[in-house]
Amino acid sequence: MKLKNPFLTAGYAGEEYFCDRVEETGKLLGAIENNRNVTLIAPRRYGKTGLVSNAFARLPEGVAGVYLDVYATRDLAGFTKALASAVFGALDTPVEKAVSVIGRFLKSCRPTATPQSDGTVKFSFDVTPGNAEATLKEVFDYLKARKRRLVVAIDEFQQVREYPEAGVEALLRGYVQFVPWISFVFAGSRRHLMSEMFVLPRGAFYQSTQILNLDVIPFDRYLAFARKFFSREGWKVDEGAFRGLYDRFDGVTWYLQAVLNKVWETRTSLLSGEQIEKAVAELRDERALVYHDLLAAQNGASRNVLAAIARTGSVREPTSASFLSANGLKVASTVRAALKDLSRKDLVYKSDDGWIVYDRLFAEWLRALP
Ligand SMILES: Nc1ncnc2c1ncn2[C@@H]1O[C@H](COP(=O)(O)OP(=O)(O)O)[C@@H](O)[C@H]1O
Ligand SMILES: [Mg+2]
Repeated sequence: MKLKNPFLTAGYAGEEYFCDRVEETGKLLGAIENNRNVTLIAPRRYGKTGLVSNAFARLPEGVAGVYLDVYATRDLAGFTKALASAVFGALDTPVEKAVSVIGRFLKSCRPTATPQSDGTVKFSFDVTPGNAEATLKEVFDYLKARKRRLVVAIDEFQQVREYPEAGVEALLRGYVQFVPWISFVFAGSRRHLMSEMFVLPRGAFYQSTQILNLDVIPFDRYLAFARKFFSREGWKVDEGAFRGLYDRFDGVTWYLQAVLNKVWETRTSLLSGEQIEKAVAELRDERALVYHDLLAAQNGASRNVLAAIARTGSVREPTSASFLSANGLKVASTVRAALKDLSRKDLVYKSDDGWIVYDRLFAEWLRALP
């Protein structure tokens, strides 16, 4: 499939439109081929989900991939529902067979089959807090009985830490270790939560997975990727202009893709910083209503801290006297509480360079406020 605009800002359309990640894809596939589980950690918008898609597109013969995103789940029932839908949704058997398989294994919850316009059937499962544990067991019973090579990628896995039930991680770890022919990929964007589960000795998944920290795509490879498409049209990409774009967003994939997508739309060479400025302003303004509501939904202290971080760029010591006084913030304890609140909502992020506004376009919008 040939895309009119080669710079995707959502989804995956094959390796032609996928920049680099050669080593990371190799590592992921190597782990899968050797029956290791993987923990994939990177901040949002770096390209975790894209990497999983890219690896899934090259799974060895006979290995199927199952993907689920648990970001929106709130409890074990939500998790189980997502897992059951993904596992049984991936059944490549005729509908009648799928129904009989599901009926055989799932006794604790009622599945509903909805015919889709493309002739397939979508299953959904009535999982409630009351039957969640039983259904989860049945899903794993099915996976155990099936004994086929499978990769199960669970995206935004740190979400399980927010569930009200106790011991969810230990429960899942227990199931996972008894299906060694299934490789699990646990992807997550909240580094410290992922570390607590997978890296620290007290974590339920301690030493049970290979850790893969995903960094941004290197400058040279991104430039070459952009030039590949521009040059086909007879357009140039100036290295200095591209450097400005790359550095402005610290190389984070989604922003580069979004800006390149806009510049491409103008059907001309990328030669100047003004072109990037214009694209960024467009992206920012398209989101103005959302950002306005998002800011309005925060309490006063969080609003002030957000604005102060946006103005500063990145803040190493947000409770220092100099940061407080420079931004009209009064007490350190209020700032600490606000940071906790804001990071739980993924509005700020503690990077290696200090605290930043997580969504860089939101930061741009905050800076542009009068
Ligand atoms: N290697 C890549 N080359 C080109 N685009 C990519 C690449 N990785 C991710 N993207 C794009 O960047 C965006 C963000 O990536 P995504 O995988 O969703 O990030 P994450 O899962 O880490 O939040 C997506 O729209 C995706 O299409
Ligand atoms: Mg993702």
